[in-house]
Amino acid sequence: MTSQDSAVLVKTMPEFQKSSVRMKNPTRVEEIICGLIKGGAVKLQIITDFDMTLSRFSYEGRRCPTCHNVIDNCRLISDECRKRLLQLKEKYYAIEIDPDLTIEEKYPHMVEWYTKSHGLLVEQALPKAGLREIVAESDVMLKEGYENFFDELQKHSIPVFIFSAGIGDILEEIIRQAGVYYPNVKVVSNFMDFDDNGVLKGFKGELIHVFNKHDGALKNTEYFNELKDNSNIILLGDSQGDLRMADGVANVEYILKIGYLNDRVDELLEKYMDSYDIVLVKEESLELANSILQKIL
Ligand code: TMP
Ligand code: MG
Repeated sequence: MTSQDSAVLVKTMPEFQKSSVRMKNPTRVEEIICGLIKGGAVKLQIITDFDMTLSRFSYEGRRCPTCHNVIDNCRLISDECRKRLLQLKEKYYAIEIDPDLTIEEKYPHMVEWYTKSHGLLVEQALPKAGLREIVAESDVMLKEGYENFFDELQKHSIPVFIFSAGIGDILEEIIRQAGVYYPNVKVVSNFMDFDDNGVLKGFKGELIHVFNKHDGALKNTEYFNELKDNSNIILLGDSQGDLRMADGVANVEYILKIGYLNDRVDELLEKYMDSYDIVLVKEESLELANSILQKIL
């Protein structure tokens, strides 16, 4: 029997038959999903990235914004600042997704990107009171099926840890406006620090960037200690850095890693298939995750 033959469950789920779904080892995926089903709701937790994972990479052929891009595109910053932010994005995003550089090589560039970009935002004296409107006016969109995803997780009280190198205040506003910021959702991200007049003066806590997500669990010990019986994890991400979001979670029985591959697909597909259990190529929906949740819950 080949490894393909034994993946019976996966073969019968229509969501797995799309050409966007790639798996290096369907048998292993099957084993993990069976483990998740056996553990049920009580053992499950979700650890997920936000930008380009829960939010869309593109819609009708146009790129959708990240949390940072919501600000890049908004009317609260000067045109000069916008130009500089977009120049930074052009330079550093290319490095972020460069298939020929290692994570170690990319790391210092990411720190540089965030430091420069956050510095520019502070210079602009952004008002806290304007965030709601700039999110409402932006083109940001959550992936298709997000209502079902969040509703089911909320219904079954499954803890959802959104771990984002985006901007926490924008992220929270996005999920609040989408009506899915339920009590089972915890957001860990870069949160803005405002002065007494509600003007941006910096960012709180240690910087989270694309490639330092491996110590997230260590820095959120209280949260993960409380969830020590939730030993089954579904991890969702889009970057190679997201693969390590569950590092340091003490008690892991089964972990299913689902990775969205949005850009430079030809060069990155092999690497993604080697590291994510399931790779979703240019996929703008959460239906596969939803179909797995349906089996578990
Ligand atoms: P994520 O961890 O939720 O995916 O958020 C991080 C994304 O934000 C990452 O892909 C890089 C992106 N980003 C911008 O789009 N603009 C910026 O100025 C910075 C610093 C990051
Ligand atoms: Mg992302």
